[in-house]
Amino acid sequence: MSKHLTVVDHPLVQHKLTLMRDKGASSAEFRRLLHEITLLLAYEITREMPMTTRAIETPMEEMDAPILAGKKMALVSILRAGNGMLDGVLELVPSARVGFVGLYRDEATLKPVQYYFKVPEGMNNRLVIVVDPMLATGNSSAAAIDLLKQAGATDIRFLCLLAAPEGVARMKEAHPDVPIVTASVDRGLNSKGYIMPGLGDAGDRLFGTK
Ligand code: URA
Repeated sequence: MSKHLTVVDHPLVQHKLTLMRDKGASSAEFRRLLHEITLLLAYEITREMPMTTRAIETPMEEMDAPILAGKKMALVSILRAGNGMLDGVLELVPSARVGFVGLYRDEATLKPVQYYFKVPEGMNNRLVIVVDPMLATGNSSAAAIDLLKQAGATDIRFLCLLAAPEGVARMKEAHPDVPIVTASVDRGLNSKGYIMPGLGDAGDRLFGTK
């Protein structure tokens, strides 16, 4: 993808996002809406997948028809809220392999620390789509992408539901080669690092925790 940031302003995406932001949405509704929006965002992030043609015969005649060139994909969820976006992308690309990155913030250094990392083999040959609903400070996203690059990935895209301008700027500085697709860039972060107006803690809302 050529653009660093794509905001998907499709009416269905914006409508569903509003329903998700509303604090009255139940976890079941929130999960379903995140799944549905992910399908629409995944459509956008896969727009420039490499294509080739295949010679086929329709009932009418022969043709060289467009088909995916077959570049392998890895879908990487940033735990835990990223898991709410996994099934949406897998529904469109069922053959994708799946990886997980777990990071927590060290309260003394405020730096992200890895506690889990498991990705498919052959990352250097895969289109890697990283999913995390909230791009807030961008520190954990940038750290996760550092780890994926260390594992060999070179073709990485980042899919999120909401972004803060601070997170977009952090990613552009750390990983200008990683395009971001999101449904909205909100006003900014509050003092606790939450996106405003945002939708609260995506993990808690997805899984009904507090
Ligand atoms: N993570 C969340 O779940 N929500 C925010 O607003 C910021 C980070």
